[in-house]
Amino acid sequence: DLVPAAIYLIASGLSLPAQNKIFETELRMTPHFLLVDPSHYVVSYAINPWMEPGVWSADAAGNRERAWAGFEALASGLARAGAKVTIEPGRPGVPDMVFTANAGIVFDGRVLPARFLFDERKDEEPFFRAIFERLVGEGVLREIVDLPEGMHQEGAGDCLWDRTRRLAWVGFGQRSDEASVRVIAETFGIDVEPLRLATPRFYHLDTCFHVLPRGEVLFYPPAFAPETVARIEAIVPPDKRIVATERDARHFSVNAIAFEDQVVMAHPPQELAARLSERGYHVTGVPLEPFILSGGGAYCMTLRLDNTTR
Ligand code: ARG
Repeated sequence: DLVPAAIYLIASGLSLPAQNKIFETELRMTPHFLLVDPSHYVVSYAINPWMEPGVWSADAAGNRERAWAGFEALASGLARAGAKVTIEPGRPGVPDMVFTANAGIVFDGRVLPARFLFDERKDEEPFFRAIFERLVGEGVLREIVDLPEGMHQEGAGDCLWDRTRRLAWVGFGQRSDEASVRVIAETFGIDVEPLRLATPRFYHLDTCFHVLPRGEVLFYPPAFAPETVARIEAIVPPDKRIVATERDARHFSVNAIAFEDQVVMAHPPQELAARLSERGYHVTGVPLEPFILSGGGAYCMTLRLDNTTR
């Protein structure tokens, strides 16, 4: 999209500084991600079927070390793929804060902070709020909007923007309330497509569903009821469907980060990497095993701050 837009801009007759400003702010769209480092990361409780505190503690030192290595590979992989990365330090007592996708939903500079279902994650809320307030102060975000009292919604983990179809796919039924779907649509003034999650193992939409920049949808059908799969298939044409295998899902490779022709994900099975390369994507695999032990992968560990819906 960039080249025709740039040509259009040059032909616009605007002054060069004005053209530059538009190019920088409107067109270049360097993706910007918020990450939290694993300084306090541990698997110490189980709120989803992937979490195994016993496996973690059997080699806590090794896991801590691998968590840091994986985190650094993720952050540098994103930077090398061309993204801007903002890293916040982890806070004591809230190990799952590394999964920043769950902190809130961000579109057009507005953030709808999450409300977590489980007590184990509720203490993250004030920490993330303080971070969002600071980002508003810095001009990275514009406004904080609150969920209705008592409503649960676990952020971008259950809300994925589809820029090809100009809609958000919204997950519910495990952590996020069904009623949050309407709130998301109204808060951001966007179209939404609700997807009920059918199994506890795929408890956030991002564990089983992902949209790639050219409109392909990578998804794992067993995470949904047959009528939900039919709904996805009614919207996504066959040539745009990439059906994940049980192995892809288990490797948390559906939980991917993608922008332009770049895809960053937990080390994918060879065949999935090949399928994505065939479609012209450049795949970076990252060793995220210690995070998979908590039920999270690459997408879970990032919150995109610069999503635009228009
Ligand atoms: N242990 C975390 C939880 O159960 C993992 C969250 C993963 N995040 C995600 N967006 N899927 O909440």
